[in-house]
Amino acid sequence: MSFDFKVADLSLAEFGRKEIRLAEHEMPGLMATRAEFGASKPLAGAKIMGSLHMTVQTAVLIETLVDLGAEVRWVSCNIFSTQDHAAAAIVVGRDGTPEDPKGVPVFAWKGETLEEYWWCTEQALTWPGGDGPNMILDDGGDATMLVHKGAEFEAAGVVPDPATADSEEFKVFLTLLQKSLAADPKKWTTIAARIKGVTEETTTGVHRLYEMHREGKLLFPAINVNDSVTKSKFDNKYGIRHSLPDGIMRATDVLIGGKVAVVCGYGDVGKGSAEALRGQGARVIVTEIDPINALQAAMDGYQVATLDDVVETADIVITTTGNFNIIRADHMERMKHQAIVGNVGHFDNEIDMAGLEKIPGITKTEIKPQVHEWTFPDGHTILVLSEGRLLNLGNATGHPSFVMSNSFTNQVIAQIELFAKTDEYPTDVYTLPKILDEKVARLHLDALGVKLTELTKEQAAYIGVDVAGPYKPDHYRY
Ligand code: NAI
Repeated sequence: MSFDFKVADLSLAEFGRKEIRLAEHEMPGLMATRAEFGASKPLAGAKIMGSLHMTVQTAVLIETLVDLGAEVRWVSCNIFSTQDHAAAAIVVGRDGTPEDPKGVPVFAWKGETLEEYWWCTEQALTWPGGDGPNMILDDGGDATMLVHKGAEFEAAGVVPDPATADSEEFKVFLTLLQKSLAADPKKWTTIAARIKGVTEETTTGVHRLYEMHREGKLLFPAINVNDSVTKSKFDNKYGIRHSLPDGIMRATDVLIGGKVAVVCGYGDVGKGSAEALRGQGARVIVTEIDPINALQAAMDGYQVATLDDVVETADIVITTTGNFNIIRADHMERMKHQAIVGNVGHFDNEIDMAGLEKIPGITKTEIKPQVHEWTFPDGHTILVLSEGRLLNLGNATGHPSFVMSNSFTNQVIAQIELFAKTDEYPTDVYTLPKILDEKVARLHLDALGVKLTELTKEQAAYIGVDVAGPYKPDHYRY
């Protein structure tokens, strides 16, 4: 079998396969899904284009989708997040060799340029024979945006001039669309018309979907996986509680205990970040714009301040907001010598990297890949991790398997829902029913030795629920 793919090095496949084997044991939700649906193959006929960090955990997700009958093509949704051994193992497949790969086409490697990133995304959306994809599994919404913008510009008959783009990334994006539409003027409307739906992994991608739907621009239905409780209240919080300190430590090996750490944003990711840094002994300060989250942070025992007021005292500043321009160039200019600056929100514009580069006389020294020391004209320096992009995936290996099993079991269920019951989902943005959310949690209890208390019939009637669930109304917040 031969197929197109582009990864760093297929000889890494054996190492990747070993880590996938260990991860499978830590991903009981995905393995239970394989056991439940492996024979009935509810995804037979699904041609899934995935754009989600190509890690070991994602490898287990991809092979689960394949076991359920899907054909898959994959890219990473971040230029630094690919684990090259995982990508190699997925291309080689369970029965292949580096010389004779038999797995899944992956277009991803650690350290892509922006041009390569968008090239990879287009490759994964360009199905051989032209009969797919019919599903997207997205993280952050870049694949969904490429299809939507491509179709929009195609209908308008013109792609905006890349020279007018407000960022380097958008310039690269527009250049790619110009080229692809010159080669095939019907490419993106044809792709959009085939797609039955998208399942979206993260807060930022979900914001984009609701916005497109509000503007009447959404072209196919979407399931918001992020807002399954077993996703955002687990991956975003407990996942980051593990992978944020992991990233800071692998990047700098600095002792976190005793340092002053500022966490911008106290949503799910901010809560996990603050807890992790406090757990290491840092004195944590939180910034927030929402009075409810600010009050939560205060009651959880954190000082709540503005970055402007505390930036000079901080040893570590982490942004987690999903918003932009949180850590500005003038903030970085005022930081302590060797302060550490990092982002765990989805896009790199949380930190004003463009503004930092423009400071007259500033220089940049690579300490090692994804760790850069920026020297200001007065001689003091700061360390910026992963060039302002997701540091937990750029400097470490992202969230661990067990928590990703929760997220990805939701993804698989959502793919089955949209693919198998397309008629029940007119174009809109949906969340999964609570009973499925509870099912995902249930699948992870045994591995942790959790014994649930069962409601008696009388107790269930007294609180107005079914003995088998769902146990909470949709408005319950956990
Ligand atoms: P969220 O909406 O729960 O939290 C974001 C918080 O930031 C909100 O409380 C909001 O009020 C606050 N905020 C907004 N603007 C602010 C500003 N200017 N200053 C201070 N606070 C501000 O979102 P969630 O789920 O915590 O996600 C945050 C980001 O992290 C998103 O971009 C999401 O896609 C990303 N994410 C990253 C992961 C990773 O592995 N690094 C994992 C999961 C999500």
